[in-house]
Amino acid sequence: MTALLLTEIDHVAIAVRDIDAAIAWYGGTFGAQVAHRELVERDGVEEALLEVAESYVQLVSPTREDSPVARFLSARGEGLHHVGFRVADCAAALQAVKRAGGRVIDEVPRPGSRGTTIAFVHPASSFGTLVELVQVPAGREM
Ligand code: CO
Repeated sequence: MTALLLTEIDHVAIAVRDIDAAIAWYGGTFGAQVAHRELVERDGVEEALLEVAESYVQLVSPTREDSPVARFLSARGEGLHHVGFRVADCAAALQAVKRAGGRVIDEVPRPGSRGTTIAFVHPASSFGTLVELVQVPAGREM
């Protein structure tokens, strides 16, 4: 049997055009609080993490026209963008995807927001949903 490599749902990412409006909606409607907010230059996004129990809703909004999230918004509109699964070892989980013949977006793990190490799996391999493998730094599991 294959060992379970996914330890938690780290975040559910939702692409939005107006991140402040989305934060206000989650806060005003559900009382959800922003735990972390960050500009991720490399990916051309601003993100806000809203705490939900042990996981987050991650609101992502493009900071430039050519960012993947900007292209996603113009092609598909606002909505579910990806699911981030927490893993103990991002490189090992990525290797498992490749070993199973899966297509990856990141050939090797790379830095994500809040000090994480991440890699994306292509939605063509994961049944239409973009999957992110998220390794949280030791001692910072939450
Ligand atoms: Co993410």
